[in-house]
Amino acid sequence: MEKVIEENKQGTSLVLEQKADNKKKLFIESYGCQMNFSDSEIVASILADQGYNTTQNLEEADLVLVNTCSIRDKAEQTVRKRLEKYNAVKKINPGMKVGVLGCMAERLKSKFLEEEKIVDMVVGPDAYKDIPNLLAEVEEGRDAINVILSKEETYGDIAPVRLNSNGVTAFVSITRGCDNMCTFCVVPFTRGRERSREPKSIIEEIQDLSAKGFKEVTLLGQNVDSYLWYGGGLKKDYEKATEMQKATAVDFAQLLDTCASQFPKMRFRFSTSNPQDMHDEVLHVMAKHHNVCNYIHLPVQSGSTRILKEMNRQHTREEYMELVDRIYKIVPGISLSQDMITGFPTETEEDHQDTLSLMKYVRYDFGYMFAYSERPGTLAARKLEDDVPEEIKKRRLQEIVDLQQSIALERTKRFVGQTVEVLIEKSSKKSDEHWSGRNSQNTTVVFPRGAYKVGDFVNVKITDCTSATLIGEAIGYSEMQ
Ligand code: SAH
Ligand code: F3S
Repeated sequence: MEKVIEENKQGTSLVLEQKADNKKKLFIESYGCQMNFSDSEIVASILADQGYNTTQNLEEADLVLVNTCSIRDKAEQTVRKRLEKYNAVKKINPGMKVGVLGCMAERLKSKFLEEEKIVDMVVGPDAYKDIPNLLAEVEEGRDAINVILSKEETYGDIAPVRLNSNGVTAFVSITRGCDNMCTFCVVPFTRGRERSREPKSIIEEIQDLSAKGFKEVTLLGQNVDSYLWYGGGLKKDYEKATEMQKATAVDFAQLLDTCASQFPKMRFRFSTSNPQDMHDEVLHVMAKHHNVCNYIHLPVQSGSTRILKEMNRQHTREEYMELVDRIYKIVPGISLSQDMITGFPTETEEDHQDTLSLMKYVRYDFGYMFAYSERPGTLAARKLEDDVPEEIKKRRLQEIVDLQQSIALERTKRFVGQTVEVLIEKSSKKSDEHWSGRNSQNTTVVFPRGAYKVGDFVNVKITDCTSATLIGEAIGYSEMQ
């Protein structure tokens, strides 16, 4: 693969891997979670072997693929608007083919081909290796669809083509699917049962990234703490594993420990952690390695034990608080972030107050907050009436957003006067004279460029901040350099 360096608007170099002989053009865009962005890099790799190079220009594309999200109704509406846009371009360029990938493809299946004339191909998250065959069907004028969910597929054998990469940070997926069946969530239906990827292929991918100059890897999965490799197969079938398989099984703490030890000049993050599966071993690995970042995304969804039960989350408010206590004790200085849902069916004002008080207890650095959106087919949709009026959902959402912002400002302020280690990722949005990167706790740090370059690890003395950004001055390379 040849590396093409392009300049984007902020002057950041994008590394696009292209094959010189490839004549066809693929336009691929992704919506939703990081897993989708990561999956699109696998799809781009599969298509690179079929004669496609990626393009950022929709008008010149031979094939347009959209990797879709079903998590909330709004996410699906966004994708529908994009499909309208492709339809308009297709009128000018009738040879262009359009495919839908990801969770919406899985959820709507053949309905897509029936109702959306624009769509030529529908591919679920476990069927990307079938895309070459599906394209052949499309060429022959047939509708092409594969939405079969797999017990084994982890794409461990495919080297992703890094898309829109800054050449410094990358995502490496370690698990697929989810077994948790939270009652509000469509993911277990669209992404299938949980399975883990072989450690060897994970390490090889990181080795390859390291050789290419990448400095930070985020290990990715719907529930990374539940990672368990025992020779293949579904997580739920672990009980059936042989004694030998169990003796050599690798869990998340071991995987993280291996990554951090083998690549001391790279730093590691992971996402997402489900509170029920987060064990102290992982916390001790975080405390042991300087290059495992001090940040955990720990979605809670609600501060009310009653609502947590209705959501089928496997912990109470108190258990979550105890976990947070242990995290702060074992990994001092760590930052936490949350996902929260307001207006889940039956949520009362008292439940909402429980959410606010939990937020004050935990003091999250960041938060991703949503109004409940009923998803067809989920347990909540089947069993519970979506009975919290829209305006109440919105008001409660605003209250938690406002509280999160005021906590975030205080949390960010704690760094003022300190020196933090930053990996330089890109130019600052506001000024080409400044670099932007993140500290270990995941807070964005902006500082004058000096003689440093993208990919450098530097110590930055923090002089000022806003609620989400630290401002400072680089004082030299850090120990990671
Ligand atoms: N474990 C996953 C969670 C995926 S969904 C992960 O890797 O992040 C991301 C977030 O979307 C959830 O944590 C939840 O807060 C929110 N969400 C999921 N379903 C939702 C729904 N039906 N309505 C509103 N928000 C939802
Ligand atoms: Fe969804 Fe719960 Fe899994 S939020 S992705 S079912 S952990």
